[in-house]
Amino acid sequence: MLRSVILAAAGSSRLGRLVSGNSVSKGLAARFVAGDGVEDALTVARTLIDDGLTVTCQHLGAETTNAEQARAVRDEYVTLLGRLKGAGLTPATEVSIKLSALGQRFDDKLAYEYAESVCAAATEAGTAVTLDAEDHTTTDSTLEILAGLRKDHPETGAVLQAYLRRTEGDCRELAAAGSRVRLCKGAYAEPESVAYQSALDVDKSFVRCLNILMSGSGYPMVATHDPRLIAIAEDRARWFDRSAEEYEFQMLYGMRTEEQARLAAAGNVVRVYLPYGEQWYGYLMRRLAERPATAALLGRALATK
Ligand code: FDA
Repeated sequence: MLRSVILAAAGSSRLGRLVSGNSVSKGLAARFVAGDGVEDALTVARTLIDDGLTVTCQHLGAETTNAEQARAVRDEYVTLLGRLKGAGLTPATEVSIKLSALGQRFDDKLAYEYAESVCAAATEAGTAVTLDAEDHTTTDSTLEILAGLRKDHPETGAVLQAYLRRTEGDCRELAAAGSRVRLCKGAYAEPESVAYQSALDVDKSFVRCLNILMSGSGYPMVATHDPRLIAIAEDRARWFDRSAEEYEFQMLYGMRTEEQARLAAAGNVVRVYLPYGEQWYGYLMRRLAERPATAALLGRALATK
């Protein structure tokens, strides 16, 4: 219930303006977001890499509604990739991108064209792009765009969401040599017709998908903070005889940092998803929806301001 209320609030631009201007919420955002600009992303990425982690950088922005806005997002990523290369932070840093920010909602051909430019800049910088997964209405389009991009940029990664009923099938399609797949639970409010609703069903689906990816010949990227699923992933890696270079763990910046350090110290590749940008409100609200304890903290702080 609380989760759906917070997810609904994540889409409210009025509430967004109110929360974004508040110093308490800005302070809370700093725990999960590198900062407003590219320079902040570079600084935090360098610290994470120095700590033995790897990084995927994401520019936070709203869904775009016209070509000019989408072009600005493309340019932001091309600049980011150039700066990452110049700072010596590639290949340890890759980038994650939402196709809706490149225009997918109003022109998927344009989104493809712009994503292709970002992939070309990533190749030039010696790194790769992963296409974030958004709500289920975009999944077919995103996987089609991924297939097109992988022709020239085979290292382009996909994200599959275990809560979607279709995802086991998508895992089978993508568990092939050279394919990079981030498996996560899924962060959007989805209807029962397309998505498992109970946490237990989502977890069971996650494990089935993990089995498919770990037993396949692609590169699984296990994106979860869930201790039980992390332990199962470690077990499956041993079972399917994967070396530490043949899969990786991923977690969000600011979440379970001790666990990130533990996994890295044990020899695992651990990639931190590092968002930056001025439009952090929707991102922060999705994180709060996952952690009601943090949401209560923000609510109390705002109420006493
Ligand atoms: P979940 O939030 O279900 O928590 C399970 C258990 O883990 C908790 O009960 C608790 O025990 C423990 N736990 C979780 N967080 C903790 C914390 N901070 N401290 C202590 N314990 C904690 N989604 C999407 O739809 N599209 C996408 O492209 C992505 N991309 C993405 C990248 C990366 C790197 C990550 C880690 C996640 C995503 N996600 C995503 C988000 C994902 O779908 C999901 O919503 C969140 O990761 C929350 O699910 P978890 O599996 O982390 O555990």
